[in-house]
Amino acid sequence: MNIANRFEKGRNKGGFTGQANAHAVASSALQFSTLLEEGLKPHHKLLDVGGGCGRGAYWATRYLNEGNYFVIEPDSKQLEILKSDVSDPNKVVLSDGNKDFDFSVFNVKFDFFLVWSMWSHCPRTDIEKCLNGFAEHGTPEFKAIATYFPSEEEGYLGQKWVEDLGEKKPVVGNPRRRKRVFHNRSWMYQAIERRGFSYTVFDDLVINRRKCLIIKRRGL
Ligand SMILES: C[S@@+](CC[C@H](N)C(=O)[O-])C[C@H]1O[C@@H](n2cnc3c(N)ncnc32)[C@H](O)[C@@H]1O
Repeated sequence: MNIANRFEKGRNKGGFTGQANAHAVASSALQFSTLLEEGLKPHHKLLDVGGGCGRGAYWATRYLNEGNYFVIEPDSKQLEILKSDVSDPNKVVLSDGNKDFDFSVFNVKFDFFLVWSMWSHCPRTDIEKCLNGFAEHGTPEFKAIATYFPSEEEGYLGQKWVEDLGEKKPVVGNPRRRKRVFHNRSWMYQAIERRGFSYTVFDDLVINRRKCLIIKRRGL
């Protein structure tokens, strides 16, 4: 079964695949090609933070050595789809369902973190937890790939996760109306730099107002 059929199967079970199957396939390719361009190798350990139904897992599980793909996903339905329908059927997926962005649960130092389509839904406090997690549970040379919507305004100051449950159903409506949050660009850069990290930025070409940040320890 190919990638589109696998996502279609997951979508029919309630998997979050984005706006359409083609979107899931494109996002999956962009996530993986970004990881490759940043130097992901099969022996690296990758933590997919909020892995959903597996847009990141699809290629990562096929590429990484057995036991090197880890995922945190609190929604048990998404995780089940990721494991049973989308990821490499021959590889074990190591997962946890905590909602605290607690990366210590695996007792592993990660070479890569994938945080895709997460900071576009979460409060500042969750971003801070992720950044602290990179510092504590990343190898000295780790890279984190995280997408968000930047704003010159103050951005989202709420405390709650924001997500349109409609995304879990078949395609409806104008995607621009779906719930997402913006974060102030300067706040984001300062939060990253405060931890001794540096960053580079490029466009998420699938949703092109979203930016993709590559974060690593400064000086590396
Ligand atoms: C918009 S989806 C993105 C999924 C995936 N990264 C992708 O690109 O397909 C956001 C995911 O984050 C998960 N999530 C929500 N709160 C979370 C938390 N506190 N920790 C980890 N994941 C969370 C949701 O269940 C959902 O699957």
